[in-house]
Amino acid sequence: MLEVHGKRILSGIQPSGVLHIGNYFGAIRQHIALQEDNQCYYFVANYHAMTTIHDKDELTQNTLMVALDYLALGLNPQKAVLFVQSDVPEVTELAWMLSTITPMGLLERAHAYKDKLAKGISPNHGLFAYPVLMAADILIYDSHLVPVGKDQKQHVEMTRDMAEKFNSLYGEVLTIPDALILPEVAVVPGIDGQKMSKSYGNTIEIFCDYKTLKSRVMSIVTDSTPLEAPKDPDNSTIIDLYKLFASAEEVEAMRQKFLAGGYGYGHAKKELLEKIWNYFEPYRKKREELAANMDYVHQVLREGAFKARESAEQVMDRVRKAAGVVRHISFDKAFM
Ligand code: ADP
Ligand code: TRP
Repeated sequence: MLEVHGKRILSGIQPSGVLHIGNYFGAIRQHIALQEDNQCYYFVANYHAMTTIHDKDELTQNTLMVALDYLALGLNPQKAVLFVQSDVPEVTELAWMLSTITPMGLLERAHAYKDKLAKGISPNHGLFAYPVLMAADILIYDSHLVPVGKDQKQHVEMTRDMAEKFNSLYGEVLTIPDALILPEVAVVPGIDGQKMSKSYGNTIEIFCDYKTLKSRVMSIVTDSTPLEAPKDPDNSTIIDLYKLFASAEEVEAMRQKFLAGGYGYGHAKKELLEKIWNYFEPYRKKREELAANMDYVHQVLREGAFKARESAEQVMDRVRKAAGVVRHISFDKAFM
C-alpha cells in the first residue's frame, strides 16, 4: 500500500460507466486507503463525462452510482470529502482563466486527446480542453498529490505547466501538485485477457448480480487444452484474476491443479466466481443499505460539496485578486 501521510490528496472519477474490478484494484482501493492519514478530496467528474455522455438520465444515474459505489466500498465521509464536480461551479471559472494562459500546442500534444482522434472520434471543444478543466480541478483545492493511473500522468504534468505559467505571470498563487502514480501491481486483465477496460467490453463489474457475474466469469477466454491435460498456470487469465482475491496458498493450490491435469478451466472458473462473489459480499450489503437510503447519500454529497466549495472559494479569492478579475457581489454560502 502507499506510504503517504498528511497530504492534501485529490482525485476525480469519471462517471462514464459502471465501475469494474480493474478500477477497484487499480484505483478505488488505494483512494480509500489514503483517507486514513491524509486529507482526501474525491469527486465524481460529471463535467468531464459530458465530453462523451449526452443523455441526461445516463449522466445523472452514473454520477450517483459512482458516489454510491465509493461509499459502499469504504469511503468514509468523516475522513474524506466526497462530492460532485458540478457542485463547485467555480472550477469552470478557474478552467477559463487557465485556458487563457495554456498554449494550444500543449493541448495538441495530449496523448488521451490524440488517441481519441486516432480512433476517429470527432472531437468537441470540451474533449480538447479536458486537461484544462482537470488542471482547474486539481489547483482549486491546493492539492499536493493526485493519485491516478499512469494514463493520467501527462494530464498532471500539464497541470503543473499551467500552474507554473500562471504563477510566473501573477505571483505564487497556485500550489504545484505532484502525480502519485498508482502502482500497477495489478494490471487487471479482462475476460479476453487484454487489460480490463470499459472501452474493450471485457469488464467484470464490481456490483453485478450473481447470474451476470457467473456469465462473465464463465466467458473468460482460455485455450482449448482438454480437461485431462496439464495446463499452463503462468499464462492464465483465470489465475491472474484469482490472485487478486485468493491467499497465496490458494493460488499455489490452483497452480498445482493446473499442472497436474484432470482439472478443467470450468472448475477453475467456478472457484474464481465464488471468490469474487464472496469478496464483495460485505460491500454489496452496504451498497444495498445505501441504495435504500439515497437521502443519506445526497446528504453526504451536500456536505462534501460544502466543504469543497469553501476550500475552492479561498483559492479563487487569491486567483481573482492576483489576476485582477473584478467582482461586485459574492453569493458565498447563500446557497446553503
Ligand atoms: P476504463 O479503462 O475502463 O475506461 P478508467 O480509465 O476510467 O477505466 O479507469 C480509471 C482508473 O482505474 C485508471 O486510472 C486506473 O488507475 C484504474 N484502472 C482501470 N482499469 C484498470 C485495469 N484493468 N487494471 C488496473 N487498473 C485499472
Ligand atoms: N481524467 C481522469 C480520468 O479519466 C478523471 C479526472 C478528472 C481527474 N479530473 C481529475 C483525476 C482531477 C484526477 C484529478 O481518470
